[in-house]
Amino acid sequence: MKLDPNVPYNDLPLLPPDCNLDSPEILKKTISASRALAELKGLGITIPNQSILINSITLQEARTSSEIENVITTNDALFKAFAAKTGQIDPATKEVLHYRSALWEGYNTLKTQNLLTTNVFIRLVQTIKQNNAGVRKTTGTHLSNDKTGEVMYTPPVGESIIRDKLGNLETFIHTDDGIDPLIKLAIMHYQFEAIHPFSDGNGRTGRILNILYLVQKNLLDLPVLYLSKYIIEHKSNYYRFLRAVTTKQEWIPWILFMLDAVEQTANFSRKRILDIRNLMERTVEKAKNELPDYMYSKELIEILFHQPYCKAQFLVEANLAERKTAATYLKELERIGVLMSRSIGREKLYLNIKLYELLADQHVQSMPI
Ligand SMILES: Nc1ncnc2c1ncn2[C@@H]1O[C@H](COP(=O)(O)OP(=O)(O)OP(=O)(O)O)[C@@H](O)[C@H]1O
Ligand SMILES: [Mg+2]
Repeated sequence: MKLDPNVPYNDLPLLPPDCNLDSPEILKKTISASRALAELKGLGITIPNQSILINSITLQEARTSSEIENVITTNDALFKAFAAKTGQIDPATKEVLHYRSALWEGYNTLKTQNLLTTNVFIRLVQTIKQNNAGVRKTTGTHLSNDKTGEVMYTPPVGESIIRDKLGNLETFIHTDDGIDPLIKLAIMHYQFEAIHPFSDGNGRTGRILNILYLVQKNLLDLPVLYLSKYIIEHKSNYYRFLRAVTTKQEWIPWILFMLDAVEQTANFSRKRILDIRNLMERTVEKAKNELPDYMYSKELIEILFHQPYCKAQFLVEANLAERKTAATYLKELERIGVLMSRSIGREKLYLNIKLYELLADQHVQSMPI
């Protein structure tokens, strides 16, 4: 029977899916995606101070995932808002920062309770949306085509039906059924989006869950996979393959799509981490050679890599210097060309020029002041 996109899909099948997942194509792709992910995970161990890299990568993930929902902010506005206390933060930038907080909250929750439950899903969406939304109780949630307004999909309706399907999803996530975790990731992501438990924020919550799932399965130590980059770059396929699971039970193209997403973004994230690490090493050398001896320390340079903008207060908080001395250090780093100062309200921020260029793929000369 043909599915009517206007009718709530209360018959959404429970997991596991009724299809053969053992195709050679899937097996091959699972192996290469797993290998790429293992290399990314392995890289973490070789990085002495991991927090240096995490901020930058999770901010990018948050920005891109929010962009899929048309919440658009610039890298510069985001990085500034992350470092500055004063100054206006526009609503889109705020939303991205909320997404980032949700990712971290979820990650920290896993450390104490290593389970992905309906309550975790709800806490994530509440942080993303900054409200106390829960599982949908009313009708009226549809997914429609952005341009034509045509309804493409109507998710299940009725709180108890939705909760039952979420319960089944939880069981699927935590049951060791011999299905490879990366294949399960793809299945889980489809199912979460098809259940569409909330009236908004399902895409973003689902994308955070992808990362948390990999952490939960010990395939990542830190939430550093920049998965939303692939999704936004292949947005129309993302929607098309999701739909094909619903309308034709075509799981294979969807699973292959998600496996490719993991493989490509694991490789990209690994390269980016290496680039940041190399840049940090070069900056250490430059500072050693060009700063006055009494001023140089490795810790001073490391702090410039916590995020693209730095300020005197960060140096004070890290016990590197008193406030006045900290200001002198930053000025010296500007003199040797590592930093560039910007005034935001009454605060003075310093941009790590090369780190910004690396993260944003954009030259500082061409960015708006
Ligand atoms: N045909 C479909 N079937 C199931 N899920 C879908 C379908 N089309 C889109 N989706 C999912 O719904 C999400 C959008 O839902 P919603 O607006 O609640 O989330 P969001 O986080 O606010 O938005 P976005 O995902 O666009 O950032 C998409 O990102 C996608 O994951
Ligand atoms: Mg939305």
